[in-house]
Order: sequence, then C-alpha cells, then structure tokens
Amino acid sequence: MKQIDIAVTLNWRPQHWSIAPGDILLDILRREGYLGAKRGCETGACGACTVLLNGKPIDACLMFAAQANGKEILTIEGLADGDNLHPIQEAFLDHGAVQCGYCTPGMILNTKAFLEQHANPSEGEVRDMLSGNLCRCTGYTKPVEAVMAAAHLAKSEGRGRKA
Ligand code: FES
Ligand code: FES
Repeated sequence: MKQIDIAVTLNWRPQHWSIAPGDILLDILRREGYLGAKRGCETGACGACTVLLNGKPIDACLMFAAQANGKEILTIEGLADGDNLHPIQEAFLDHGAVQCGYCTPGMILNTKAFLEQHANPSEGEVRDMLSGNLCRCTGYTKPVEAVMAAAHLAKSEGRGRKA
C-alpha cells in the first residue's frame, strides 16, 4: 500500500511517521508505543482515545493520522515532568478518581484543556465536561472532586488558564 510521510510534534518532540493515507491516528499512536490513548468504542462516544491536538481534545479514533501532519499532539505520556506528575494527575490520585484507569488518560487530558479555558468552573460545568469520558468503574463523584481540586489548586497557585 502507498505510504506517506508526515511530521508531528508529539509530547514536545518532533517525530516523523510513515503511514498509509487511511491510517487512523489512534492506531498510529499505539503502533508507536503511546498506549495511554485507549481503544474503546471507535465511534467517538466514549472518550477513551482522547488526546490533545494543538491543545484541543480530539477523539483519536475518528481522525486520520494524516490530518495531524504539522500539528502538536499531547498524549498522557507527555503530561508529567519527569518523575513529577502533573497537578491534575496528582489530584486524580489524591481523590481516588482512578480505578482500572482505562478512561483516566482521556479524562485527564480533557480536564487539562478544559481548565485552560475555565479557570473557575462550576461543578455543573465539570460534570458536563466529563460526560464525554465514559467510566465504567467509579461513577463520576471522585473525578468531579479531582477536577474541582485541580482547578482550585491552579487558581491558588496563580496558574489560572494554564492549569
Ligand atoms: S475509542 Fe474513540 S471515542 Fe471511544
Ligand atoms: S476507572 Fe475504569 S473505566 Fe474509568
């Protein structure tokens, strides 16, 4: 099959991928070892495959990898700073918002993008945001608490829209 070369910035590092024109971004991320993006429904309904593309959450199962050419992708593997977890990751751990973890990368990346746009969210706004990430384990009480705590921390540390 014909292959094309694309260039992306993945987790702050330039990468070059050889792909087929019809390859799906989720498949290529997982082929390249970025397994934090999970395969769930493959229809855009569950949010398990969420990654950030130029800072915005997208369903990697619904996007051709070729559409990412020249863009910045952030997966959960790029969120921590070395051994230091991102504050949103810390908040999810501190609030017991992780059980099997299948939905967690998508939730956390969605939260990151959300808090950059909503420095002082209401609980209703947080519930609305998390409704795009289906979780079979926890229900949503703990993740909502974690997001509210991360928002509060970002505000108190003056990080505001750059949570
Ligand atoms: S696997 Fe992409 S939204 Fe469910
Ligand atoms: S923690 Fe298991 S699906 Fe959400």
